[in-house]
Amino acid sequence: MKKITTFASRHRYLIFALLIAILQVSACAETGPEAKETWKVELILTIEELAQYDGLEGRRAYIAVDGIVYDVTDIPQWKDGLHGGRFQAGRDYSEEIRSESPHGTGMLSRADEVGILED
Ligand code: HEM
Repeated sequence: MKKITTFASRHRYLIFALLIAILQVSACAETGPEAKETWKVELILTIEELAQYDGLEGRRAYIAVDGIVYDVTDIPQWKDGLHGGRFQAGRDYSEEIRSESPHGTGMLSRADEVGILED
């Protein structure tokens, strides 16, 4: 009996590989300081990498306190990554949140934890 082969069945491995490639490209386009992190992998930032997340020019706004990185982008008091008129996102504020803020670390519960700061 003659075997009927369609384009899809002959090239099924190629089609599968193409689908994987498209998925990878679209996933890569979602990363970086301009994109909200949605991946459930652990994000580990160095202090230099954290500095990119300053909330300016459409970049996301992250701050670090006690080794945890928080996303403050959508918090109204951190508009454009600036808080209290003088604290720009992209930095470790473990000391200032205790010594300079009227509220202390309790306010951190309003922000999402998105990663950890490398030692
Ligand atoms: C998730 C993080 C944070 C949130 C949600 C937050 C929220 C707020 C809010 C709502 C106020 C208004 C006053 C009050 O309710 O106590 C405030 C004031 C203030 N915060 Fe924060 N804060 C955060 C982090 C920080 C950090 C890291 C610092 C220090 C580096 C800081 C320093 C200040 C200062 C100095 C004021 C007084 C500003 C002024 O009166 O002009 N905050 N913050």
